[in-house]
Amino acid sequence: MKYYVTTPIYYVNANPHIGHTYTTLIADIMARYKRLRGFEVFFLTGTDEHGDKVAQKAKENGLKTREFVDQIAGEFKTAWDNLNIQYDIFYRTTSSEHKKGVEHFFKLLKTSGDIYEKDYQGLYCTGCESFKTDKELVEGGCPDHKVKPKLVKERNYFFNLTKYLPKIKEKIEKDEISIKPKSKKNEVLGLFKQNLEDFSITRENVNWGIDLPFDKNQKIYVWVEALMNYVTALNFGRKGAESEEFKKFWPADLHLMAKEIIKFHAIYWPAILMACKLETPKEIFVHGYFTINGEKMSKSLGNVIAPEELVKKWGVDATRYLVISQFPLGIDGDFSIDKMQARYESRLANDLGNLLSRTVAMMNKYEVPAVQFSGNPYSQDANNLLVFDSTDHFKAPQETIIKHFDNLKITKVTEIIEKIIINSNKYLEENKPWELAKTDPAKCRAVLQNVYTRLVVIAHLLEPFMPDISKKMINSLEKLEKIILFEK
Ligand code: MSP
Repeated sequence: MKYYVTTPIYYVNANPHIGHTYTTLIADIMARYKRLRGFEVFFLTGTDEHGDKVAQKAKENGLKTREFVDQIAGEFKTAWDNLNIQYDIFYRTTSSEHKKGVEHFFKLLKTSGDIYEKDYQGLYCTGCESFKTDKELVEGGCPDHKVKPKLVKERNYFFNLTKYLPKIKEKIEKDEISIKPKSKKNEVLGLFKQNLEDFSITRENVNWGIDLPFDKNQKIYVWVEALMNYVTALNFGRKGAESEEFKKFWPADLHLMAKEIIKFHAIYWPAILMACKLETPKEIFVHGYFTINGEKMSKSLGNVIAPEELVKKWGVDATRYLVISQFPLGIDGDFSIDKMQARYESRLANDLGNLLSRTVAMMNKYEVPAVQFSGNPYSQDANNLLVFDSTDHFKAPQETIIKHFDNLKITKVTEIIEKIIINSNKYLEENKPWELAKTDPAKCRAVLQNVYTRLVVIAHLLEPFMPDISKKMINSLEKLEKIILFEK
């Protein structure tokens, strides 16, 4: 059983912010969950470092392009390391490995007979690193970057996209390339009704990029080589052959991203793969887009939130939890520090922190021994169901949690966990073990041990979301040692 999950490779024109953090965290949580389920996981993230946009930013910063990309790529890597992101590879498109892989891919493309040269003129948005059609513009400007695209006249190599459109459409309709959520699948299918044309895969007047192997006057279009990272990171094309990693992990099980880059992933990428007779990715999941007070995050608006700011406030694990549990995964939403703070206090510090500390404290005080219980709900053991006793109004079989996770409904999983926590607190309030200790010690012990086993389950359930907190909880439960999980 293998699982290959990817994030987009992020442009190194600016430092990582909470938008990138969101995607990377989702990927990490899925990767950790699948590892717990016994899958052999490959989790890829990294940086997209070529093209004019990045080169221009380096210039603005008065740095050599190479120095600049090294610096920002370092910022991304550090940000992910600080958030305890367990990627298998942090991949950079300026690496020699990537270059070799891309060159091999282009050899295959050339033999496919699906590329041709043509003079072209079009409107190019450097922010998007793509040509825009008149229809896509709003008042003559790019709707995302609010700037007028520049007119580019070049001789380029083109890819015969139109040849592959019917087959790709069919694959999407049949979920052979599954696009989720459904609304995004429909959006992509809607694109086929518009004029999808062959697109240029090289650029003539770009300096910062990979040379086209068979025509050194051209650089490979940054989007095309960026998409190829998903296979070159598996060592595809190195030394000319398909690598072990490629054979083992390709096709990708999940490409994660936000909506603005869906066309590249759902249409262009499968087409290029098909031209080279390679398999297409299994699933593309499009998560929601964060805004800040209703506005797009941008440096010029001065509203960019960096992940370190959140970590300073809440620590690594709580930040991970709060960022991913704000909205269901496919929904756009306004990022609110206040709401996250409220959730930190109520759900984490109060509900979870107190449940653990008071249970452990009472078990110590009333000399109730720990329970030997290895209740890991992610284990493959089909009989290991999470059904609680009748005093708990809540029943959540393992299958429900697994199903939610497999459908990327990860906020449904956090809701279930929060419900177990809330119900366990309620159960303590209703049964009052502090009174039972005087009147009915056997019942006191049973009540506390009941909550204890639930805490073990909660700790395990939280592992993909808050790996360190999960470990701390299990440790505290094993030793019956009182700890503070979340500082208030
Ligand atoms: N370099 C390309 C991707 C190439 S993939 C072969 C790129 N880079 S990017 O730095 O702009 O990153 C875009 C991705 O970052 C989005 O698709 C999404 O995953 C994440 N996000 C960036 N801003 C975001 C929000 N405001 N909200 C949610 N996610 C966002 O595009």
